[in-house]
Amino acid sequence: MYRLLFERVLARFDAESMHRLGFGLLRALLAFPLVRHWLRARLNPRDPTLALSVFGRALDSPLGLAAGFDKDAVGYEQLYALGFGFIEIGTLTGEPQPGNPKPRMFRIVAHRALINRLGFNNRGARAAVARLKRPRAVPLGVNIGKTKLVPEEAAVADYVASAALLGALADYVVVNVSSPNTPGLRNLQAVELLRPLLSAVRATLDRGSPARRVPLLVKIAPDLADEDVDQVADLALELGLDGIIATNTTIGRGPLSAEEAERAGAGGLSGAPLKQRSLLVLRRLHARVGARLLLIGVGGIESAEDALERILAGATLVQAYTGFIYGGLLWPSRLRRELSVLLRARGFANVKDAVGRG
Ligand SMILES: Cc1cc2nc3c(=O)[nH]c(=O)nc-3n(C[C@H](O)[C@H](O)[C@H](O)COP(=O)(O)O)c2cc1C
Repeated sequence: MYRLLFERVLARFDAESMHRLGFGLLRALLAFPLVRHWLRARLNPRDPTLALSVFGRALDSPLGLAAGFDKDAVGYEQLYALGFGFIEIGTLTGEPQPGNPKPRMFRIVAHRALINRLGFNNRGARAAVARLKRPRAVPLGVNIGKTKLVPEEAAVADYVASAALLGALADYVVVNVSSPNTPGLRNLQAVELLRPLLSAVRATLDRGSPARRVPLLVKIAPDLADEDVDQVADLALELGLDGIIATNTTIGRGPLSAEEAERAGAGGLSGAPLKQRSLLVLRRLHARVGARLLLIGVGGIESAEDALERILAGATLVQAYTGFIYGGLLWPSRLRRELSVLLRARGFANVKDAVGRG
């Protein structure tokens, strides 16, 4: 039903405008805490198969909402009510910025995919502080990136500014060096540049939150060469990072026709066409780091089968963005329910027992 509505009606309108409208309605409908609690209890019944503890926090399930949906942390409580186990807000940058000219987000319905070149449109790290409180019910990752106007030489200071403001408010912090839409950003994945960046953010988190060690993860692109994936993994181990998120969107165009690709233009491709590459990157990371780092699998997850495949490949947590767009509001609760069934059918009493068992 939702798919039909999506394909016939919603997909005719500008993708970003529909996102704003849909998200605005959701926030208004679920503005009252009582309504949110009621809905979450219905959509997220207690399930010991899915419950797990990560970074010292109890999560109801391993399925999270990926970064980019709620960049400014304006609706994470409403999104959580839909049955996600955790939410990642951001990308937030040191300075507020408008992002790229519109249109900058496109659906490719035939491939269950999106192309976006939003370019980190957000109100900046400082503005988000007021909207984040601790303690809170929602487990929250905070994803930080580089302000576009800041030159590469000053990138570390820009990330550090965001980390100083937001670290103590986050359940985990993600250094995003993998968006294709900020010129030069992905160069920061090169180990010579990544080492000082991650070291400085780690030190900032330690200074800003002496009582609680804030977990730090790095989010990587699916377009890295295999050897570069290995190098980032080794660096993450060397610097004592807590995990890696694999992956961001791709600059590849996968199965899209030249016409489909051209209609959207530049940007990162997400959704079904990203599935295989994200899975391969995850497998490579897991082979390299085993259980020493927490891996979050993201990219093209559409079903409980996809989620289980990532978990078996070594992901403790999974995230999605595009699958949620195409799946609709009930998608997170459906996926978690089906994942629980799949896990039990395979003889796993708890999701943690399945991690890396593929
Ligand atoms: C419209 C859109 C905006 C995004 N914005 C961000 C972002 O700000 N920061 C980030 O780290 N990832 C961002 N992403 C990437 C997603 O978090 C995710 O890594 C990617 O889309 C792959 O997952 P999916 O196939 O489930 O969408 C964005 C993705 C989309 C589709």
